[in-house]
Amino acid sequence: MQTFSIAHTVKDKYKTLFGTEPIVVRSPGRVNIIGEHTDYNEGFVLPAAIDKASYVAVGLRNDDRISLYAEEFGDSFESSLTTLAPTDRGWPNYILGVADQLQKSGHALKGFNMVLSGDVPIGAGLSSSASIECATGFALNELFGLSISRLELVKLAQRAEHLFAGVRVGIMDMFASAFGKQDHVIKLDCRSLDYEYVPLKMDGIKIVLFNSNVEHSLASSEYNMRRQQCEAGVALIKAHHPEVASLRDATMEMLHKYVEPADALVYKRCKYVVEEKERLLQGCEDLKRGDIKALGKKMFATHDGLSKEYEVSCEELDFLVDQVRNKEAVLGARMMGGGFGGCTINLVREDAVEDLIKETTTNYNQQMKLKLLSYIAQIEDGTSVLSI
Ligand code: GLA
Repeated sequence: MQTFSIAHTVKDKYKTLFGTEPIVVRSPGRVNIIGEHTDYNEGFVLPAAIDKASYVAVGLRNDDRISLYAEEFGDSFESSLTTLAPTDRGWPNYILGVADQLQKSGHALKGFNMVLSGDVPIGAGLSSSASIECATGFALNELFGLSISRLELVKLAQRAEHLFAGVRVGIMDMFASAFGKQDHVIKLDCRSLDYEYVPLKMDGIKIVLFNSNVEHSLASSEYNMRRQQCEAGVALIKAHHPEVASLRDATMEMLHKYVEPADALVYKRCKYVVEEKERLLQGCEDLKRGDIKALGKKMFATHDGLSKEYEVSCEELDFLVDQVRNKEAVLGARMMGGGFGGCTINLVREDAVEDLIKETTTNYNQQMKLKLLSYIAQIEDGTSVLSI
């Protein structure tokens, strides 16, 4: 119902502002069951697209200008196609960055108008930025008849985020947004980009997201720093094992031998990643067997690693995970995404969801003095051009 209404909102707004019929594209946010901070280490991830999405309505202009309007902010932005550059206004960067990447890849663009809206909460770790980038890429691909493949659009969106948002993100968020499949998670090998759809067999269990409503400004600088620390670990191993190209190839033995004596902090970071790599592969088998209890235990272990070794959690996220840790009805929980705020993901028995939300909301509010938002995530298809 909501999908329907936001798609129509952007379409109607476009017609009001620009007077022609637009192309409308939907691109969802994502959850990630397990496999955090593994994508840029060429490991595996297990994300899925959700029922919260960004929507864009796009159409041609007769000049070389870009005119953008963001419904949520009631804000507009204009630029020339020939002078695309990041702006400190924030939201236009995700669109400008994609247009820039299309041009840099040799595609001739002309001026366009765009209206943006959506219901992916911003800064909640549900990849609102990737969903805007994918929506933009797919919409311009359609508008200019560029015939770019889904995978190329994903890679292009990732480069846009690097250059126009300044965060050296991995490929998970864009891939999940573009390749999502209803009721399935994607087991993605971030080295080869081979992927497999694994059915989400979780009878009687819901995916509950608790949005901490915290968005630390550290997120992008610390994210880039973690990447550097992983690269530093690889360099230390590579001196002895030239075949090791990323932490994907590293073993605990290598970490003990070459990284631990050289740099205690880098060792801690790399240890988390190497363990998480293994946890994901086993967690995926749990899911295939329908053993959600075993998968859930691994999610708690992931949280502890992210909090204590990778150090990308925060007080509020730790609080939310600790709240549910010993509850029989909660099979697994952890912070999700880049960290320093955003959501926790919880696997919760259906009959306990309502009470859990009530209780956690009250406790969070009392202890953290913050409002807790909660969502029950449905797993949906990835990016599509809508025929409305
Ligand atoms: C952010 C990034 C992803 C990934 C996660 C952590 O969401 O955009 O590429 O690295 O953090 O797993």
